[in-house]
Amino acid sequence: MFLFFTRPMGTLGNRMQNVRERLGEEFLEKLDSLHLGALRTNLVSRHDLQEAYRKARDMERNPNRLNMVWYVLGIMLFIMIATPVFYETISFLLGVRCFLPNNNLVWEATRPISDCQFCKGIKGPLILRNLTREEFTPYAYSSLPIIMKQSVAHWPAKRRLNYAYLKDLYASVPGASDTNCPFQHFNSDLKSLHDVFRMPKERANLSEGAPWFVGWSVCNPDLLAELRKLYPRPHFLPVDAEMPHSDFILMGYEQGAVMHLDYIPRLMWQAQLQGNKSWFLAPAPECDHQCQSFSFYVEPGDAVLVDTRIWYHANTVPKGQFSLTIQSEYG
Ligand SMILES: [Fe+2]
Repeated sequence: MFLFFTRPMGTLGNRMQNVRERLGEEFLEKLDSLHLGALRTNLVSRHDLQEAYRKARDMERNPNRLNMVWYVLGIMLFIMIATPVFYETISFLLGVRCFLPNNNLVWEATRPISDCQFCKGIKGPLILRNLTREEFTPYAYSSLPIIMKQSVAHWPAKRRLNYAYLKDLYASVPGASDTNCPFQHFNSDLKSLHDVFRMPKERANLSEGAPWFVGWSVCNPDLLAELRKLYPRPHFLPVDAEMPHSDFILMGYEQGAVMHLDYIPRLMWQAQLQGNKSWFLAPAPECDHQCQSFSFYVEPGDAVLVDTRIWYHANTVPKGQFSLTIQSEYG
């Protein structure tokens, strides 16, 4: 092929040479025209054109640079997919539930972007007292954080529910501590209900050892039925509100949950039965310029209602106090 174009082959060879030269001239003329046209626009300078040409040639000579970009993107994608899989595998192998609490990495990465309507203008919780169900109706499905002051103070659970009661209750139901109900140890070293109820008395009341804080779902129907003898459905919730088939107990000292969202299907209510608890609420990061973070505290006998699916929230318990709460959902 090379020889065909470089060695004249009589009349045919001369014609091909002429055609090639004419096409080449036309191409060069069009290229010059384009080049001058681009320069006349003043949008690009000769230097820019030369630089673009140099970069294009550079990229052509160094295809590895392009490969490197794809390589790095591939590694990042692999890490994003492999990290939750790795954590879940370790959780399964160690027999620890919620090794990565609530799979937060995956949920955070996949949650929808907020339009920030829920938090605009809100600077603190709405504090309500002595409301009947009818009076509470306008607020029932609001995204406003609400404290219902002393609304659960009359519950028998406020007087009777404590660490010793729960320990005895779980001991009375064979295998109750072995159920697969979700358990969260937060920052503590207690990895299961077994650990919680096998603590020495001194550690349980924090006269010795490190502070602990745990939470778990009461999903055993017999246990739940027994427990619910100590507290009714909150009187202010709508009659037709759907309730779950399990409640959550949270108890312990000092550091509670760190800032997070709950991935639950309904709104959350929490009855503060013992100790004070501080709540820290923050809007989604994309709402930082429109909304503000704030904190408040609840006292024994208060109920707090927060849409924890949209409000980031964290809790702490004042040093030396023991906090015990019942948490559930409605919707
Ligand atoms: Fe939460």
